[in-house]
Amino acid sequence: MFKLVDVPSINFNPSELQEIFNSGQIADGEYVKQLEKAFSKLFSTKNIVAVNSDSSAVFLSLKALCIGPGDVVIMSPMTCLAVSIPVIQTGASIKWCDVDRTSGMLSVDSLREMNLDNVKALVVTHWAGNVADLSEINKFARSKKIAVLEDATEAMGSLYKDSMLSVTDSDFVIYSLGPVKHITAIEGGLILCKDPIHLATISRLKRFGLDRKNFRDSDGEIDPKSDVNMVGGNYSFNNINAFFALQQIKKFDSVTDSFRKNRARLIKILKKYDFIEPSETCSSSDPCSWVMSTLTPFQLPLLRFLKNNGIIVSKLHLKNYSYSCFGDSNLASPLDGVEQFQRTVLCLPCHPKLTDEYFLKLDILLKKFGEENES
Ligand SMILES: Cc1ncc(COP(=O)(O)O)c(C=O)c1O
Repeated sequence: MFKLVDVPSINFNPSELQEIFNSGQIADGEYVKQLEKAFSKLFSTKNIVAVNSDSSAVFLSLKALCIGPGDVVIMSPMTCLAVSIPVIQTGASIKWCDVDRTSGMLSVDSLREMNLDNVKALVVTHWAGNVADLSEINKFARSKKIAVLEDATEAMGSLYKDSMLSVTDSDFVIYSLGPVKHITAIEGGLILCKDPIHLATISRLKRFGLDRKNFRDSDGEIDPKSDVNMVGGNYSFNNINAFFALQQIKKFDSVTDSFRKNRARLIKILKKYDFIEPSETCSSSDPCSWVMSTLTPFQLPLLRFLKNNGIIVSKLHLKNYSYSCFGDSNLASPLDGVEQFQRTVLCLPCHPKLTDEYFLKLDILLKKFGEENES
């Protein structure tokens, strides 16, 4: 059976792990600092903080923007609940924006037609490792003084204008270090901030709002002079998770290269069949596909056929306005692009653990499916 996504290979020296436990520094510590430094280098930004999940990263970024009740956040419904739930946890409401039916990502044309009353932020999801139309989105958002937050979880390693997704234009870029992502810490999230003030706020919010530098006095006691003037929570990343992720950062280039090569192989196979094609990515991008997103009019029969034959494929995410927890979310009627994309999208495995046998099998199965279904 070929899985849609898989846990990356993690090799580590058990005695190094044992040392962390022996040191007593399991919550915070040197590995967290090293991890932030390594990602800082990778994404060419000093303003980076690790937290305990992708959802915490979204929540804290919105809190740093002082987003709360009465505010509105625009986003695409084609995303993970890990991204949308934290938006309503701030007390803000979501306004769903339509997507481009060929990419599944925010449609700038639809964005331009939206009512922007009380809109404070725009959340962009880079679908399956493809890249959204960032320059147009940011141009629009800047002209309306709306903050932009990218969830680049599925696109770690993807290139936009020859650089990895970082805070070049957007205010925040978020990555997950969850179990089956390009790099796993088992659980964790990364926040890249454009503004160092946001970084300072998040660094406090992730630990209840306290100022860790001044929290204790010279006796090591809690300093009564160190005020807590914002309400945060416990969103810290820990030393053990950081240790695991650090082992993989060393192999970042070969891991992302493997995702990219697999994507190229899949594109070559897909070209042979006219009932399935890759979904779109913006023109200045080079995706490092977490999964290979395709479009096919045979979504359900093909999904069942491939699954029954040992290849796990998926529609990936359900349009989020289907969930009643979001209420009506200002949605007068279903969005055309979303509905069309949801009916045709099918994601195929693309991860580094796939073998030649997978590509061969997929090709044979697609050929067979085509012969049986096209006429
Ligand atoms: C776009 C996106 N963001 C965030 C997440 C959250 O990932 P996790 O909960 O593994 O950290 C996912 C999960 O697949 C996702 O697809």
